[in-house]
Amino acid sequence: MEWRIPLSDIDFDEDEALAVQNVIKSRWLTMGRITQEFESAFADYIQTKHAIAVTNATAALHLACLALGIGPGDEVIVPSLTFVATANAVRYVGAKPVFADIISHDDLNISPTAINSLITPRTRAIIVVHYAGYPCDMPAILSIAKQNGLFVIEDAAHAVGSKLNDRMLGAWGDVGCFSFFSNKNMTTGEGGMLTTDNDDLAQKLGRLRSHGMTSLTWDRHKGHAWSYDVVDLGYNYRIDEIRAAIGLAQLAKVERNNERRRKLSQVYRDALQELVPQVGIPFQNHPGKTSAHLMSIVLPKEVKREEFMGRMKEQGIQTSIHYPPVHTFTSYKDKNDTSLNLLVTEDVANREVTLPLYPTLTENDILTVVNAVSQALSS
Ligand SMILES: Cc1ncc(COP(=O)(O)O)c(C=O)c1O
Repeated sequence: MEWRIPLSDIDFDEDEALAVQNVIKSRWLTMGRITQEFESAFADYIQTKHAIAVTNATAALHLACLALGIGPGDEVIVPSLTFVATANAVRYVGAKPVFADIISHDDLNISPTAINSLITPRTRAIIVVHYAGYPCDMPAILSIAKQNGLFVIEDAAHAVGSKLNDRMLGAWGDVGCFSFFSNKNMTTGEGGMLTTDNDDLAQKLGRLRSHGMTSLTWDRHKGHAWSYDVVDLGYNYRIDEIRAAIGLAQLAKVERNNERRRKLSQVYRDALQELVPQVGIPFQNHPGKTSAHLMSIVLPKEVKREEFMGRMKEQGIQTSIHYPPVHTFTSYKDKNDTSLNLLVTEDVANREVTLPLYPTLTENDILTVVNAVSQALSS
């Protein structure tokens, strides 16, 4: 379908085209010099000692759980209002995801109070998700983690370039996991990155990304090694030079594009004010600097969301839902503890709608979308 205003769009130009061409001309396609440059530039940006590029954020989350030694019998506290990959990563290593509620209809991030109430002797870690790039309450979550000896993994898939108290998201926990999927603030098509300050963990993550091998094809090409040992059960979660080159070009644009997203989010908020309080606008006055990955609204209870989205579609405007809660999926139902209190998650998840947001969207487009929202609510 050709949308008049799609949900998201990429900002690609000659920079990405040239970057890809240069890799092709270099004749070295697998993980090598450009990947190292990308990792080093990304670590500089997030201000962590290490950045390890991988195939996608799902692989990053899996490796984070694995490298932290999480396994069968362990519990990991996660939000349910997230993409399924956050919880799947916990199951990949044989551990149990335990779902915590979000704070409120204004703050869709995991609640520190809920986290506290779910800690058992089996809890090993917390995975936070910075919803739409708005920072979770990291000081409170780190303090809970410290008191209880828990690891903190940041699912920063939405949050490249977000900051809280002058520290980038992805640099707060033990490990940060980023996504460069096509709809993200910077994209390589498919791609991801791990960030950490811990030298041992970085080494382990790097090895697990490539079969647990002690040297890479690139090391052997450079003449640094001629054989290798395999010291862990690893995976092939490597990125390639083409994606790394696109990643470098995208990283150079991310600050400018995030600034534009923040500006457009404000235009949305101002234009939507006429529909408040009927329509909820999460994350108004949220602390920190957001990457403004998504523009969410919460519909009035009585509005049928599917019909609302259908009316937006008739106007050529693409909308989406973030997210169907993970604990309600068939694959999770039998693992779900029915005593869990996820009332805010369930209510928000039934009423949330995501509006189009991307750097090349215009102020006029936003007025068109908000007019359509207004009409869709009243028809
Ligand atoms: C919150 C969250 N976590 C994890 C992922 C998984 O990212 P990837 O598609 O790079 O594996 C996504 C992707 O949509 C996401 O939104």
